[in-house]
Amino acid sequence: MAEAGLASTEDLPPKAPLVEGGQISDHRDGREVVLRLRGIRTQFGDKVIHDNLDFDVFRGEIVGLVGGSGTGKSVLLRTIIGLNRAREGTIEMLGVDTSTLHGKSQREMLARTGVQFQDGALFSSLTVTENIIVPIREHAELEDQTMREIAALKIGMVGLPADTGMKKPSELSGGMRKRASLARALALDPELLFLDEPTAGLDPIGASHYDELVKGLCRNLGLTILMVTHDLDSLNAICDRIAVLLDKRVVVGTMAELLEYDHPWVREYFHGPRGRAARQEHK
Ligand SMILES: Nc1ncnc2c1ncn2[C@@H]1O[C@H](COP(=O)(O)OP(=O)(O)OP(=O)(O)O)[C@@H](O)[C@H]1O
Ligand SMILES: [Mg+2]
Repeated sequence: MAEAGLASTEDLPPKAPLVEGGQISDHRDGREVVLRLRGIRTQFGDKVIHDNLDFDVFRGEIVGLVGGSGTGKSVLLRTIIGLNRAREGTIEMLGVDTSTLHGKSQREMLARTGVQFQDGALFSSLTVTENIIVPIREHAELEDQTMREIAALKIGMVGLPADTGMKKPSELSGGMRKRASLARALALDPELLFLDEPTAGLDPIGASHYDELVKGLCRNLGLTILMVTHDLDSLNAICDRIAVLLDKRVVVGTMAELLEYDHPWVREYFHGPRGRAARQEHK
């Protein structure tokens, strides 16, 4: 869906050539690729969302995924974690082709990833502790008390007071709910973390505290994070690289590279009024 005020992408000159994995330049620098998408096509009925999409994520980095509303950011996350099936293409996660995973091997791979969905998706009838225990119970056979101790650890890790565990999601502020759903995403000590607009709806201070938390977790736990966001401050503050969904494909670059990238949506996004801070930072 084209956003109001943006130029049509149909009459554009041919796209600048990208190097492997949708990158503007080679960012690999000897690092392990923990997520490799090649030739991904997703569609619903006749509506094609992604077409021939390539995308690489390296171990230990935080990649921000941006793009206009409805361009398929959430669908891409859902496709990566197996909730939506790509019509074509391959997804390699932690070195394994995910199409070869079934049953136990699929559950084991899921246990190595954590997801925070766009709407938080905590179970409203369960307490925060019980919410965090849900994925633990699915993947491990542990005593109830041990699971509660793990949940308490995760609650502390995301900076929530200990008594949050006893509360229901409806008793928490929006920011606390986001941290609680992050705690649940961390329940199984994942290597790969997927976050869908985690700071949407937070005030700027709450959002920047959340960003610092995510950055700290990434550095201290050695996580790799793919984060959908509309928040230019987050992109600036914590993302090592930025992936932009454009014309059904992904273009990945550093902020400096994207500020130079010639595409109407990219120009409007990074050079519009909201992109001013980003521009100044990279002068
Ligand atoms: N299960 C589904 N069935 C049919 N169409 C779908 C389904 N899920 C998503 N879509 C469509 O796919 C497109 C991409 O949706 P998606 O939720 O990925 O957008 P998005 O980039 O995350 O947008 P936003 O920034 O608003 O969250 C939309 O047009 C949406 O209507
Ligand atoms: Mg979305």
